[in-house]
Amino acid sequence: ARLIPAPGPLKGRHILVTSGPTREPIDPVRYIANHSSGKQGHAIAAAAAALGARVTLVSGPVRLPDPAGVEVVRVETARDMLKACEAALPADAAVFAAAVADWRVARDADHKIKKTGEGPPALVLVENPDILATIARGPRRPAVVVGFAAETCHVIDHAKAKLARKGCDLIVANDVSPETGVMGGDRNRIHLISTSGVESWPELSKDEVATCLVARIAKRLARGEP
Ligand code: CTP
Ligand code: CA
Repeated sequence: ARLIPAPGPLKGRHILVTSGPTREPIDPVRYIANHSSGKQGHAIAAAAAALGARVTLVSGPVRLPDPAGVEVVRVETARDMLKACEAALPADAAVFAAAVADWRVARDADHKIKKTGEGPPALVLVENPDILATIARGPRRPAVVVGFAAETCHVIDHAKAKLARKGCDLIVANDVSPETGVMGGDRNRIHLISTSGVESWPELSKDEVATCLVARIAKRLARGEP
């Protein structure tokens, strides 16, 4: 813990950030997950701390060091991520950068599922809670709520639809097609979408994207607008 808070535009603010994938168990040895590295979410948490915020980073399983000066809560499943986020409220702003698994198996087996000779098991999937939408529409909504939209086609149209559907103030949209190298890579090309329009940023490092995004959030908080 840092004893003397760094001065900065986010001093006295609490920022919640989600990062990484979630991992949904199928049985004790198998799970559903995705390729998220957590790099962008962790960089946002670090950038917010660097501007003086108190930061809670709720992270799925990633191979990254904890950012300096950030309180890290490690979770595995989407349901645990939602609980950890709700426990971290109130917050002045929240950035939902995690790649939450959309589905989990309806009932995970308590023993390893074995081959039976009668073909593969039928896995019944159910939808996970939407963490961003739950918090953005909840009673303790942070003043500034930022979502991500990871798309492989029609990036801006899908992202605009998400902005409206989820009730957030900003959407960071990016193309995560394998050939872009964004998932797992160190660079990102984003479109920042708000109700007032679309801003397309040049390709930047994930650290640069984090710094610029957090500066935007600080400006919105300072103006007292969402
Ligand atoms: N998100 C979330 N909880 C979920 C799913 C998504 O909090 N269960 C958040 C992500 O962290 C991201 C935003 O919602 O900030 C959009 O995630 P994305 O996967 O792009 O959108 P979905 O609504 O899941 O739609 P789809 O995957 O079908 O495109
Ligand atoms: Ca999704």
